[in-house]
Amino acid sequence: MQLIDGKAVSAAVKEQVKKECEELKKSGVTPGLAVIIVGEDPASQVYVRNKEKACEECGFYSEKYALPENTTQDELNALVKRLNKDERINGILCQLPLPSHLDDKEVINLIEPIKDVDAFHPVNVGAIMIGDYNFLPCTPAGVMELIKSTGVDVKGRKAVVMGRSNIVGKPMAMLLLHADATVEITHSKTADLKEITKSADILVAAIGRAKFVTADMVKEGAVVIDVGMNRDENGKLCGDVDFENVKEKCSFITPVPGGVGPMTISMLMRNTLTAAKLQNNIK
Ligand code: GUN
Repeated sequence: MQLIDGKAVSAAVKEQVKKECEELKKSGVTPGLAVIIVGEDPASQVYVRNKEKACEECGFYSEKYALPENTTQDELNALVKRLNKDERINGILCQLPLPSHLDDKEVINLIEPIKDVDAFHPVNVGAIMIGDYNFLPCTPAGVMELIKSTGVDVKGRKAVVMGRSNIVGKPMAMLLLHADATVEITHSKTADLKEITKSADILVAAIGRAKFVTADMVKEGAVVIDVGMNRDENGKLCGDVDFENVKEKCSFITPVPGGVGPMTISMLMRNTLTAAKLQNNIK
């Protein structure tokens, strides 16, 4: 088994983005990202801090809007509308999940598609579906980079995606399909789950259940990608995959932490750079 080093792949992507950012600055353009966070969710606060740090590393301009838990939909919408018009801001990201009284769909629909660096807006989701897109969703795009780093060609291979969320599962399946894998999506209602996961040459787990994927569910020699970010019974960070047992069986596996997590942020940086170029008509 070989470990896929998400931190190393992520650092290489960030380095490339930083170089391109330096080039872009020569033509007077500095990529700018606005990150909105509402409320006090501790995990979200960590993610947002890491996004700000990555902006700094890449030489981007960034603004953080930490809004109180009791923010109204109108206030949040007004902020997004203002940022849509702000020329310093090329990318707008509203950290999810939002407090339950706020509607994430309404916010996502308000973000100008050209500034939607999460690629959550229906226009961008549709563009991904037909394979003609500006932005790829950060986590699935990061997973594709990690798979590429193994040297394993997914063309014609069987890929199984566990989970069907709009943020990860669905777009993940689409990117694997674009890469010519034969793709199957499983979810909480799937019958004979183990039969399906055992058929996977590439298995992507994005279900949000600690250590759910056990060794008996994995094909010998599979590439296993763990998108999960959970706490185990001792409060320790762990993925959706029972790492200690599964690692004996697969060819490549991502650790948690240090696998997919760092990639999500690097791909966000890449999308923000792309947004800055697009908005300034620079190739
Ligand atoms: N919450 C968990 N993952 C993400 C993400 O990729 N983008 C945003 N905006 N919120 C998230």
